[in-house]
Amino acid sequence: MDAARPTILITGSGRGLGVALVREYASHGWNVLATARQPAESAALAELARANPKIVIETLDVTSVASMQALAAKLRGQPIDVLFNNAALLGDRHDEGNRRQQLGQLDEALFMQVMRSNVFGPLKLSETLVDNVLAGRQRKIIALTSGLGSLTLMGQMSRFYYYQMSKAALNMGFRALRHDLKSRGITVALLAPGMVATDMLAESGYRGEALTPAASAAGLYRLVDALTADDPGLPVNVDGKVLPW
Ligand SMILES: NC(=O)c1ccc[n+]([C@@H]2O[C@H](COP(=O)([O-])OP(=O)(O)OC[C@H]3O[C@@H](n4cnc5c(N)ncnc54)[C@H](OP(=O)(O)O)[C@@H]3O)[C@@H](O)[C@H]2O)c1
Repeated sequence: MDAARPTILITGSGRGLGVALVREYASHGWNVLATARQPAESAALAELARANPKIVIETLDVTSVASMQALAAKLRGQPIDVLFNNAALLGDRHDEGNRRQQLGQLDEALFMQVMRSNVFGPLKLSETLVDNVLAGRQRKIIALTSGLGSLTLMGQMSRFYYYQMSKAALNMGFRALRHDLKSRGITVALLAPGMVATDMLAESGYRGEALTPAASAAGLYRLVDALTADDPGLPVNVDGKVLPW
């Protein structure tokens, strides 16, 4: 990697928005630490890394503290300008209709899995890699939230109990993280990618209009680039509009 260039670490880089973010940041000349829980499963990521030596693939499962610590040990002393928490679960991909997170069939194991991936994972990873972010020049930590976590927008919806709850909890967790890291010069932001045509959107059953992953990643790149320490810390959608809590 080129020490003169900024570095981003992205979680869940093997598919969907994650792989589009890798492509977007690489196209701007960044060093990209592209992490995935099973990187060997992603042909798209392997192809990108083959074509660009500034993309380094690393293994990271955001539900495993041991996996976070192993990566942190490997990256000791490596500055990270932007830590981008992208990885998340909607629910159980094999449960058509998402019944395991609906009233009548609420499943405890799935609840733990979604909260671990979408809430504890990004928060604990941010704690684990904070020294790397402090060593970076830009010092930004991002988490991807969703309008589905907004009480104002989705308070009447109950199709994805766990996912909706997870994004609402993520918002509060990152708000608290922002408070704690502000004095250390780190900017923490919650961004939403819009409706994006990925496996997750297909899994949700949504059939309306959606952005391509590339368009969403380009919009997110611009938002992160424009982020300053004076940012008020409200969740912002890819189109620049503030999402109500
Ligand atoms: N698509 C949308 O319309 C939309 C809207 C609002 C917010 N978002 C948010 O945008 C982000 C990306 O979503 P997406 O649409 O790209 O979803 P996706 O297509 O389902 O991809 C999810 C990614 O997260 C990874 N992941 C899941 N659990 C993980 C774990 N334990 N450790 C490491 N990686 C893990 C997956 O890896 P595997 O390949 O190993 O499963 C995959 O790369 C998520 O935070 C999502 O909540 C998406």
